[in-house]
Amino acid sequence: MIKIAPSILSADFSKLGEEIVRIEKAGADLVHIDVMDGHFVPNLTIGPPVVKSLKKVTGLPFDVHLMIDNPDSYIDAFSEAGADIISVHAEACIHLHRTIQRIKQLGKKAAVALNPATPLSAVEWVLDDVDMILIMSVNPGFGGQKYIEGVTRKIELLKNLIESRDINIDIEVDGGIDTGNIYDVTKAGANLIVSGSTIFSAEDTSKIIKELRENACRE
Ligand code: DX5
Ligand code: ZN
Repeated sequence: MIKIAPSILSADFSKLGEEIVRIEKAGADLVHIDVMDGHFVPNLTIGPPVVKSLKKVTGLPFDVHLMIDNPDSYIDAFSEAGADIISVHAEACIHLHRTIQRIKQLGKKAAVALNPATPLSAVEWVLDDVDMILIMSVNPGFGGQKYIEGVTRKIELLKNLIESRDINIDIEVDGGIDTGNIYDVTKAGANLIVSGSTIFSAEDTSKIIKELRENACRE
């Protein structure tokens, strides 16, 4: 089953609570929260206090994508604030295995994110330890960028690797996904789809989420 996680990076920040209620009513499965520190990526966004406040308005799980240096210093705070899934970037973690164990110790789902240029080998030896791999299909930092086509092959290779290990973990893909390319992304093996600008720029939120689901591969 394909899950849709709207990225609130493209929401109206002056009324974030209402925006989240809107996507919940429209049938979203999770809320994707993009945390940026101005170092790992050239943008600044949301911190733990905002996550904590937003937790009060929705029952949807929080999928927190940490695009920050030194994520170990902030994992506990985001966990306490209400994150359900915590993604850290392989490129930002010196002791990735340790970071993953900490997230799991806190009772949260642990995920590792990979930038478009980072090879799958960066997660090969932690695949047995994670709940999800997040494949970036744009260079992180901003919403509304174009899907990098070459990443589709990377998703396929990851899917094969997971199957060859006989493990069951989610493949999330993030960046530039719309109703036109969601089929290829899901056919390649992704089951959790992040979508920011496509969902928040649509007139009718329920309709666009429905269209994304309908266009996804159902094999
Ligand atoms: C990019 C973020 C994405 C982004 C997705 O750095 O991680 O979550 O907001 O937005 P769209 O779907 O507009 O590419
Ligand atoms: Zn993201």
